[in-house]
Amino acid sequence: MDLIVGNWKMNLGGRDSLQLIEGILERFKKPLPGEAVVCPPATALFMAGNRVEETPLQLGCQNVFYERKGAYTGEISPDFAREAGSKYAIIGHSERRQFFSEGPEINRRVAAVINSGMIPILCVGESLEEREEGNAWAVVQNQLKQGLQDISTEKLCGLAIAYEPVWAIGTGKSASPEDAQEMASRIIEELNHLQGLRVLYGGSVKPENISEFMTLAEIDGALVGGASLKADSFAKLIYWEK
Ligand code: 13P
Repeated sequence: MDLIVGNWKMNLGGRDSLQLIEGILERFKKPLPGEAVVCPPATALFMAGNRVEETPLQLGCQNVFYERKGAYTGEISPDFAREAGSKYAIIGHSERRQFFSEGPEINRRVAAVINSGMIPILCVGESLEEREEGNAWAVVQNQLKQGLQDISTEKLCGLAIAYEPVWAIGTGKSASPEDAQEMASRIIEELNHLQGLRVLYGGSVKPENISEFMTLAEIDGALVGGASLKADSFAKLIYWEK
């Protein structure tokens, strides 16, 4: 089943998040062709969770810490995100890797997400320089290995991997369907022992190009930034087939 995830990043406060949720819900026609998930900023999570409860819209968080509780000022517990209603957690987004120096501990975040009962959406992707040097797969493979090491196959059941080439994020320049397909196939091959694996594509996905990716057999969904911030455009992404 398609998994369309809106990553709202640090763009909407609580009021605006709720307003956007209302707009999305108004545009829902039954039945939904897949799973639709929104990931508001942490301050909006609890209110958003209350609002989407018993609707077809699902909730995710944008990041969590790897400890579940304690003296970690400013961090977000995976258990609290779960309590707020999050089903999914985006982990290892390239913006977290870039601006908050996330690296090896992404592995512990993935494990913590699973232990709290959420489904991780682990983000991987190469920079333009790494692609031009021919290292795209080596980078992604390493991010997968690092992100998933020492977590049992059973626990990783149902995992989602989002392939988001860094150069395609927020630039308007998406990867070509061929490049996305090639990377998705390699990811599937690398993780072929995992049941229920889903590979998403992210990076300048919009209503005009989503079908290029969603029609690929290897791609099960999309992780969307900019185009998820308007109800009309998010609804078009969900109903891309129609
Ligand atoms: P854009 O869709 O704005 O390129 O962002 C992609 C992204 O980073 C989603 O996590």
